[in-house]
Amino acid sequence: MSKYTIAVVGATGAVGTKMIEMLENSTLPIRKIKILASKRSAGKKMMVNGLELMIEETTPEAFDGIDIALFSAGGSVSQQFAPEAVKRGAIVIDNTSAYRMDPTVPLVVPEVNPEALRGHAGIIANPNCSTIQMMVALEPIRKKYGLNRIIVSTYQAVSGAGIAAVKEMKEQAQQMLNDEPYEANILPSAGDKKHYPISFNVLPQIDLFAEEGYTFEEWKMMNETKKIMSDNEIKISATCVRVPVVSGHSESVYIEVKDESASVNAIKEILQSASGVELQDDPSTQIYPTPLEAEGKKETFVGRIRKDRDIKNGYHMWIVSDNLIKGAAWNSVQIAEKLHSMGLVKDK
Ligand code: A2P
Repeated sequence: MSKYTIAVVGATGAVGTKMIEMLENSTLPIRKIKILASKRSAGKKMMVNGLELMIEETTPEAFDGIDIALFSAGGSVSQQFAPEAVKRGAIVIDNTSAYRMDPTVPLVVPEVNPEALRGHAGIIANPNCSTIQMMVALEPIRKKYGLNRIIVSTYQAVSGAGIAAVKEMKEQAQQMLNDEPYEANILPSAGDKKHYPISFNVLPQIDLFAEEGYTFEEWKMMNETKKIMSDNEIKISATCVRVPVVSGHSESVYIEVKDESASVNAIKEILQSASGVELQDDPSTQIYPTPLEAEGKKETFVGRIRKDRDIKNGYHMWIVSDNLIKGAAWNSVQIAEKLHSMGLVKDK
């Protein structure tokens, strides 16, 4: 069996460091891990699998000899270097939004649509973190009862905006507690004109605003859901909100199923045996998922499953997962493991 040389692009970042952790514990046969970041980090050292490795600058030549490249260094880095990596024979698993809606690029959640990997032409996209956990929880329900509609409101953690945003949140919290002046320079979106503090606050904007009053983050959730579920008819609308949590996205999700035979108990039963899902639902003992408890775990946690009071086929639920793990690093490494087990990584 061949062994792979794997590159992590953005190795020093919030997601990149988790990608390395997931690779260290992966079942993939790995020969070598190469850690890439910007010129700023080149020459610095990081511990990987007990070895001190040197960070290298991301250049086209850095992908020579790479079998699989995991990208999480921002969309422009992926646009610039993913084609270079593919040209050199690597399969790219891209955690940014750069290629997600490209019809030639599979957008994959391994529990939901692993077969889409078969059509890959070098690049595979990892969906948006909020989309991934929603797909893991809803696909088993959709398989059994069909799905007409999804309305989702997210409560997203700050680590989704990177290490610098987490640092800013902590500094703001400390300054506010000390009654000192504080600054806001990153959220809701580093690229936007205006910035709000996230500590002791809630921001109803993630990414920039786009068409029809929705943000890009909301469009990502709506478009990606249709692509992953291969269903353009599904009705979906999203409201994405940033909350002062370090890691772990939460979602309040309303669904309308097609089949009238569904029930709360039947949905719980389906989720109990669904791959990648852990049901945490017992109001009598206050069992429900929270982001702090989901931190560091690979599963998607579901609770608070209720029937809508007015809509016959309507159900509500609460879905939580670690945005850096299943929402990013683990889903990417899981895609790599699937590619390997499906025999889709070329032997060099
Ligand atoms: P660096 O640490 O050298 O800046 P986060 O999402 O936590 O903000 O992390 C972003 C990641 O993307 C970091 O690893 C960062 O590396 C990397 N990165 C940023 N710009 C570039 C670039 N131009 N080329 C390669 N990696 C980059």
